[in-house]
Amino acid sequence: MKDPSFRRSLTLFRAFLREQDDPRTAYELLARDAADQVERHVRLDGRVVADVGGGRGYFTREFRRRGAHSVLFEPDAAELGAEPEAGTVVADGYLLPLADGAADVCFSSNVLEHVRDPATFLSEMVRVTRPGGLIYVSFTNWLSPWGGHEWAPWHYLGAERARARYERRTGRAAKHRLGENLFAIGVAPTLRHVRGRDDVELVSARSRYWPVFPELVCRLPVVREFATWNLLLILRRCS
Ligand SMILES: C[S@@+](CC[C@H](N)C(=O)[O-])C[C@H]1O[C@@H](n2cnc3c(N)ncnc32)[C@H](O)[C@@H]1O
Repeated sequence: MKDPSFRRSLTLFRAFLREQDDPRTAYELLARDAADQVERHVRLDGRVVADVGGGRGYFTREFRRRGAHSVLFEPDAAELGAEPEAGTVVADGYLLPLADGAADVCFSSNVLEHVRDPATFLSEMVRVTRPGGLIYVSFTNWLSPWGGHEWAPWHYLGAERARARYERRTGRAAKHRLGENLFAIGVAPTLRHVRGRDDVELVSARSRYWPVFPELVCRLPVVREFATWNLLLILRRCS
């Protein structure tokens, strides 16, 4: 599907709305879309890919389907499901069991907002990427309409209130708690951070899903915190 386009964004949004009932369709679609985004910069065939915080393995499966040697790193065994992909490694993104420069592509989808120290997490992604290699990082920023995850959009009224509301309404324990496994990460500070690093070049900063002008929306102060929805950074490791 053409990226960006209204058709693509609508298809992804519809799949996202049905994610609870049909996670497989939603995540297979998202994985194909993300792999297409990677392949705008580098062919996956024959490449070594580290999928950090890869969860159920949809992305790793898609990378392998395209000929990559993809290894999934996931610290929470419960996230892997009953039948993890062969070659899955239970490991934390802060401390990956990989040599310096081992990966051609280091990939992380929707993990950065779940770590307390995103700068250190990024440093580890950079360390394992070879000079000239590609780093794909995407995350939902806190002021995004989806920033509160399962308790969105009520996070705009405060995290604890939104969480309590979710538990009252659904009768289920919320998966996320702010400051424990979800963190209020912003678009502007993250862009400032990556631009200030001397070990990566910022190749592209865009909204991951936005149908028009996905780069422009990330350049508008204040507006970008609400409108970006999910920030996608493509970085290249400096030699
Ligand atoms: C929202 S899920 C995203 C899963 C998958 N990457 C995706 O895009 O569908 C967030 C994942 O980040 C993982 N995670 C949290 N902290 C992490 C860390 N320090 N290192 C690596 N993964 C982490 C979680 O266990 C979880 O699988």
